[in-house]
Amino acid sequence: MIQILKITTGKKRFLPLLLLGDEQESMIDRYLEKGEMFALYDGGLKTVAVVSKEPKRVYELKNLATDPVFRRKGYGRKMIEYLLAYYHGRGRLFTVGTGAGSSNVQFYEKCGFTVSHTVPGFFTDNYDHPIVEDGVTITDMVYLQREL
Ligand SMILES: CC(C)(COP(=O)(O)OP(=O)(O)OC[C@H]1O[C@@H](n2cnc3c(N)ncnc32)[C@H](O)[C@@H]1OP(=O)(O)O)[C@@H](O)C(=O)NCCC(=O)NCCS
Repeated sequence: MIQILKITTGKKRFLPLLLLGDEQESMIDRYLEKGEMFALYDGGLKTVAVVSKEPKRVYELKNLATDPVFRRKGYGRKMIEYLLAYYHGRGRLFTVGTGAGSSNVQFYEKCGFTVSHTVPGFFTDNYDHPIVEDGVTITDMVYLQREL
């Protein structure tokens, strides 16, 4: 049975999974305590997500990661659907930023998001090491959004 729990204490115990969604711990620390965390269990832990409240009734997905052994089984999409339902009525927009050129963009598009804009140099400006996805060094952040 799939269960999604809101996690309010001991968030750092999810760090191994969180680091798959965001490679640098100092960046995770910027949103972890204030953000709302959710964990999807199906037997064991499968997917974790962190969402922050932004100005203008926007909620932003700051971190999303599925255990590598259990990817492409629908857990990521389940989490997104849960979050859209959870924040429906609380905000106007649900947004996410991810590496421009990474395959995550396709995942979010499959989940109904559309590209809104790009922040050039986000990864080179904010991370202390190169972020490589699918063999490509990521420099820009692309934002996608869905109405709530
Ligand atoms: C992105 C991520 C969370 C997706 O989780 P998941 O549990 O594998 O996703 P799902 O199985 O629910 O996939 C939903 C759909 O997206 C597709 N999809 C998933 N990952 C994809 C990818 N990397 N590229 C293209 N399509 C992808 C699936 O095939 C599925 O499509 P379908 O419904 O047509 O079969 C997971 O790959 C992950 O943890 N990646 C590493 C961390 C990361 O980069 N997170 C994003 C931070 S912004």
